[in-house]
Amino acid sequence: MSVSKNAIMGNGVSIGENAIIENDVVIGNNVTIGHNVVILSGVRIGDYVTICDGTILGRSPLKASTSATTRLKVLPPLEIKKGVTIGSGCIIYKGSVIDENVFIGDLATVREEVEIGKNTIIGRGVAIENQTKIGSYVKIETEAYITAMSVVEDHCFIAPEVSFSNDNYLGRTQERFKHFKGPTLKKGARIGVNATILPGITIGEEAVVAAGAVVTKNVPARVVVAGVPAKYLKDVPEDQLLDKGGN
Ligand SMILES: CC(C)(COP(=O)(O)OP(=O)(O)OC[C@H]1O[C@@H](n2cnc3c(N)ncnc32)[C@H](O)[C@@H]1OP(=O)(O)O)[C@@H](O)C(=O)NCCC(=O)NCCS
Repeated sequence: MSVSKNAIMGNGVSIGENAIIENDVVIGNNVTIGHNVVILSGVRIGDYVTICDGTILGRSPLKASTSATTRLKVLPPLEIKKGVTIGSGCIIYKGSVIDENVFIGDLATVREEVEIGKNTIIGRGVAIENQTKIGSYVKIETEAYITAMSVVEDHCFIAPEVSFSNDNYLGRTQERFKHFKGPTLKKGARIGVNATILPGITIGEEAVVAAGAVVTKNVPARVVVAGVPAKYLKDVPEDQLLDKGGN
């Protein structure tokens, strides 16, 4: 174990074998840190946080010479608030804020400049790319791909293997730089397993995208769309709406 003299440590912190805690890290009370965890300089961790084996916190982004969305700039420290649980083998970057009681499953990655709201669940192997905002009480299931510059509002549900996209020019032309935009899911929207959402699409409040759909147009609130390309199937059943106790 290697803990910097400049790290500030609360009471009741347990630290596993071979953990590394760098300069200016601030750790609250009753935090549990597993084996081989690396906490890079400046990370801030609240009380009652659990970090499982082999996770890396506070990574700085690297920029590939041809990367279109990674910005190299000075980023604020990673902030992990009270009661957060982070599984094994996760990588969470600098400049992101993980709010209270968020649960992050094993092998998930959260890039820089991401906000995740309270009580949200990020499933195993989920990738959340940079400059993305995820609300509170959201569920994102195993291996979903949330592209850069996406917005997911409160109470949304994203099933396993869902894919978001943000570039209709598929990496060609200078024009594409003007149009990069991920999808926006309005409050309570739900996306079925393995659906694909094209760049810049807005999915309306409490709308449902059926399993396997490819969404090419904005979806109005409270309707179900299905198919390739996704088309209106029916209205969302009343008893599934949030204000009818559907949660
Ligand atoms: C959209 C959905 C909720 C509709 O369920 P439903 O109301 O029970 O619909 P039905 O099974 O009665 O099907 C109605 C029609 O829509 C079609 N349909 C249903 N789901 C479809 C889909 N995903 N893609 C294309 N067509 C679909 C059916 O074939 C049927 O067509 P038909 O009338 O010509 O026979 C459901 O099919 C679905 O996609 N669920 C998502 C499951 C999921 O991802 N869960 C996440 C947690 S694992």
